[in-house]
Amino acid sequence: MAIFDVDKAMTVKLDYDLPEYPTFEEGIRRAPRRESHLTEADKELAIRNALRYIHPDHHAQMAKEFAQELAEHGRIYGYRFRPQGRLSGKPIDQYKGNCVEGKAFQVMIENNLDFDVALYPYELVTYGETGQVCQNWMQYRLIKKYLEVLTDEQTLVVMSGHPLGLFHSHKGAPRCIISNGLMVGMFDNQKDFNRAAALGVANYGQMTAGGWMYIGPQGIVHGTFNTLLNAGRLKLGIPNDQNLAGRLFVTAGLGGMSGAQGKAAEIAGAVSIIAEVDLSRIMTRYTQGWVSEKTESLDEALSMAQKHMADKTPCAIAYHGNVVDLLEYLYEKNVHIDLLSDQTSCHVPYDGGYCPQGLTFEQRTEMLDKDPDGFCKLVDNTLRHHYEMICKLHERGTYFFDYGNSFLKAVYDAGVKSICKNGENDLDGFIFPSYVEDILGPHLFDYGYGPFRWCCLSHNPDDLDKTDAAAADYIKAHNRRYQDYDNYIWVRDAKKNKMVVGTQCRILYQDAMGRLNIALKFNEMVRNGEIGPVMLGRDHHDTGGTDSPFRETSNIKDGSNIMAEMATQCYAGNAARGMSLIALHNGGGTGIGKAINGGFGMVLDGSERVDTILRMSMPWDTMVGVARRSWARNEHAMSTAVEYNEMYKGQDHITLPYVAENDDEIIRDAVKNVK
Ligand SMILES: NC(=O)c1ccc[n+]([C@@H]2O[C@H](COP(=O)([O-])OP(=O)(O)OC[C@H]3O[C@@H](n4cnc5c(N)ncnc54)[C@H](O)[C@@H]3O)[C@@H](O)[C@H]2O)c1
Repeated sequence: MAIFDVDKAMTVKLDYDLPEYPTFEEGIRRAPRRESHLTEADKELAIRNALRYIHPDHHAQMAKEFAQELAEHGRIYGYRFRPQGRLSGKPIDQYKGNCVEGKAFQVMIENNLDFDVALYPYELVTYGETGQVCQNWMQYRLIKKYLEVLTDEQTLVVMSGHPLGLFHSHKGAPRCIISNGLMVGMFDNQKDFNRAAALGVANYGQMTAGGWMYIGPQGIVHGTFNTLLNAGRLKLGIPNDQNLAGRLFVTAGLGGMSGAQGKAAEIAGAVSIIAEVDLSRIMTRYTQGWVSEKTESLDEALSMAQKHMADKTPCAIAYHGNVVDLLEYLYEKNVHIDLLSDQTSCHVPYDGGYCPQGLTFEQRTEMLDKDPDGFCKLVDNTLRHHYEMICKLHERGTYFFDYGNSFLKAVYDAGVKSICKNGENDLDGFIFPSYVEDILGPHLFDYGYGPFRWCCLSHNPDDLDKTDAAAADYIKAHNRRYQDYDNYIWVRDAKKNKMVVGTQCRILYQDAMGRLNIALKFNEMVRNGEIGPVMLGRDHHDTGGTDSPFRETSNIKDGSNIMAEMATQCYAGNAARGMSLIALHNGGGTGIGKAINGGFGMVLDGSERVDTILRMSMPWDTMVGVARRSWARNEHAMSTAVEYNEMYKGQDHITLPYVAENDDEIIRDAVKNVK
């Protein structure tokens, strides 16, 4: 076909020589085989697709390797192209590049693939069972090559992990634009996504995995801390100035994000028992100090918990076993659970995210490979029984909330209609609240408080200490409500709580003005040489970052929770204002077709240019979410929008709703009396 020489037409490409096949370190978790259901023609297409990265001289050899990988793993990861040894985010000046952003993104990518950070590092999975940095190691190598040559007048385009190319732009434009897993509506479902992923054309970016802003489980500790503390205040009547001392929190999952639960509960003063089927993940969290005790015995787990509850001392206990066994046991023993949740990977229950009762973790992995249909049936049975146990505990006064893993949706998909609010379908949500619906939405997102974060690119812990102190000073001086005080305590004690895994990063919930002013302060510190460059970002799980009816937008009640325009506008607006990196994804924490989410990365190099971008983009990035929530008639969002209109008079302006508060009768009559 080719009358042109492709090899000569490219200057950025993989090296001609194939790298040595790397050795794989023992004891590093490996992803289970992924489902694909490819036809023979599809398999050929998948190999043809992967060969696009490879010089034709090597096609015969690589076609065989790729076919083998596809058969064994359900995906082509291009293992040969994985660099030998361990990857980790290094100090920024150790990377090659023509601009600070190109080097900064390399730090973030490699941090996402660090053995200490990533869930399945050899399969490029950072967290959330399937959330990948990109699809394969050829893409990884090529992205790095592009980032090494990227200038401050170009933009790199990355589509589902594939670096499409460099295009000229300008100094105030994003240096990298990422999209992951976005699908045409009629194909926007798990089955078609799995096929596309196996063909090598779709990446599951989760939220910050494919957006390269994951910072280890610390990223979720603050949100979990806020959720638990506020659940205690709202549902257990704990006063604003007290914590969860003596209270029991029970949950499941010590993986990528779920691994934050023990730490967050401990910081909130609670006693927690966390079930986890995979011993290796328990060991990771135990050696990191993120859980304080571990046991295989239900009796021992309970006696440890009871002792700490009596002493009112915090403690995080990892129970090695299935969460449903744990719930059955606690129910039989008549133990009162104050707060109950679950953070197994229920956004992909049939792909290994949820372990059925009666199977060990190893048996689950084997069955996924040998009998995937039988596995699905076991998952459904356990989900239904899990739900029964929750209902029984709820009747005894336990507060259960869905913690953003699509647990309730998975129960519904397993055939339980009674879980629906309207008894019929999932359109009006479920009878148990999502944590956003009851807690995080009204008490944080509606004000604009969300998971702002930063990474000190120098890798120097002193830089992190200085930024923590600067952020704490700012919040202390601007203490308006209990949320500010909680955030102050959080950042004041952050170092003491030893949360850094991987690069020197910090998460700190802040509202629009907090984020802007702290960002400007950090940029000034970079300018003055007090600290090295910093990469700002946030979780996509934020006020304006994600449209997801079962999670981030579950407290939006005007019917627009099925729309995906906010996250899209947020992303486009951040591009228009010049954020360094912007990302838009399908799926995120709740699964394909169930969310559209976006995020950003902003490199602070100390320049005036960055100050200007921050002034434009930081308020926008948050207030787009507040404005949308305000239009949905959410009270706290409306009051925040009113304040914003006053603050930015003559410059920004948010449309506010006239709320038909006392008009129920008028509206009912109007509908009834239509001729
Ligand atoms: N609430 C949030 O803000 C938020 C943020 C990120 C991710 N999530 C969602 O939370 C879920 C977990 O994320 P993750 O990164 O921790 O995923 P993960 O896959 O790394 O961890 C889940 C853990 O649950 C364990 N597990 C599965 N079934 C079990 C069972 N029946 N009993 C006991 N343990 C079991 C697995 O072994 C695994 O370690 C995902 O669905 C993700 O999308 C929520």
